[in-house]
Amino acid sequence: MKISFAKPAVPDSGALAILVAQEAEPTALLKELDEKTGGALSRARKGSRFEGKAGQTLALVAPGGTELDRLVLVGVGPAKDLDVKALQDAGGTAYAVLADDKQACIAVDAIEAGDAAAQVAFGAMLRSYRFDKYRTTEKKDDKPRLSKLTVATDGSGAAKKAWPELEAVAEGVFLTRNLVSEPANILYPESFAQEAEKLAELGLKVTVLGEKDMKKLGMGSLLSVGQGSARESKMVVMEWNGAEGKKDAPVAFVGKGVCFDSGGISLKPAAGMEDMKWDMGGAGVVTGLMKALAGRKAKVNAVGLIGLVENMPSGTATRPGDVVTSADGQTIEVINTDAEGRLVLADVLWYAQKEHKPKAIVDLATLTGAIIIGLGTDHAGLFSNDDALAEKIFAAGQASGEKVWRMPMGDAYDKQLKSEIADMKNTGGREAGSITAAQFLKRFVKDGTPWAHIDIAGMTWSKKDAPTVPKGGTAFGVRLLDRMVRDSFEG
Ligand code: BES
Ligand code: MN
Ligand code: ZN
Repeated sequence: MKISFAKPAVPDSGALAILVAQEAEPTALLKELDEKTGGALSRARKGSRFEGKAGQTLALVAPGGTELDRLVLVGVGPAKDLDVKALQDAGGTAYAVLADDKQACIAVDAIEAGDAAAQVAFGAMLRSYRFDKYRTTEKKDDKPRLSKLTVATDGSGAAKKAWPELEAVAEGVFLTRNLVSEPANILYPESFAQEAEKLAELGLKVTVLGEKDMKKLGMGSLLSVGQGSARESKMVVMEWNGAEGKKDAPVAFVGKGVCFDSGGISLKPAAGMEDMKWDMGGAGVVTGLMKALAGRKAKVNAVGLIGLVENMPSGTATRPGDVVTSADGQTIEVINTDAEGRLVLADVLWYAQKEHKPKAIVDLATLTGAIIIGLGTDHAGLFSNDDALAEKIFAAGQASGEKVWRMPMGDAYDKQLKSEIADMKNTGGREAGSITAAQFLKRFVKDGTPWAHIDIAGMTWSKKDAPTVPKGGTAFGVRLLDRMVRDSFEG
């Protein structure tokens, strides 16, 4: 979809959406349209429940006195509560009602200029995402037709200036959604690594390590997860050096990339197992985030590291009871081969610290079913050894609308990982399953390194449309961490 910015005016054709704030006086554009339509607009408003509440819409089809196919009012709530998230949501909601027209305009003349129109465009763009490459018969008649969207604003100069950075973030989000949506026969460690390598075009340095390299490094924990699979395990490192001080310590992002999680020998039940194609969601976010940071030339040094494996049962697979050794020499008794994400992250976290000496590490993982029981699908779980870092991520969540909720950690939970035979077990029992998973990860983070873990198991895939997130892969985490970088690590 092509996006442009222009001054507010009634278009000669196509569809027009107008953002309307609650309890606000009609704008010049609304007055003009009411006149042109012989009062149809105000009659329609009177005869409906439309008040301009956020998410409300009111559509007039082919209104007389205009050449428009459709005129749609989109509520944005009270003008005083209009933040970036509300603007993006309004753009997304408008897109959804305009998508069937070839050409459309969203007028934001109700809103003070600044970059508001760019935020509206961003929301529309995010909502327009579709993963339809495998729908060969539906393609022509089922596709939304909107290909040209104009956002009309008095501040088109500011909007045009703000747009390229937002577009870069949207491209990162789309990459993540593509990766998460791909089935596991197409996206496996090697093909995922190839997708990541393409980011070199944007100026990222991308390095791929294979099983031989990882064996040399002693990454027995990660390798034990992939050893039952016919696919080779990989680790990808993506470096972006955008800060003025090219040698300054980077912020590291680490992602769980289990391209398919069958559970391994501790096999999962059949129902819903297809969902486990998106068990690489954390790695997908890290890859999309690195694309966004490079695409908008963020003034930050950042490194993204993803551990890519396939967790399969076979004659070479890890057995429950096996003891494996991580790269930093800790021994792990694998009680349940389905608790594999932490085994992957352990070695990638170690590598991130050893090679890159980061000033902070944030890992993302679809780590536990338990976090979905605890927090549902409105917040991701946040775990951290550092209050300042946790606060930065929490604030970025509030600002971006990708919300996180901090969970406790502590020695009492850590005790649940005690093993009879090794330094630790890979599961801590039924109680506090998401916390014991985080305690496991913490054992691979050096004291003094600010670290946060975000359990995105409930957030990576959505079963229903939201204003800026069509159902399917959400890319939850890209906007959150882009915002965190912007507010806390750039400049
Ligand atoms: N990938 C799963 C967690 C998951 C479950 C993500 C549902 C998204 C939706 C993870 O590898 C897993 O299997 N975790 C186990 C851990 C248990 C064996 C300690 C779980 O949550 O049941
Ligand atoms: Mn699992
Ligand atoms: Zn998993």
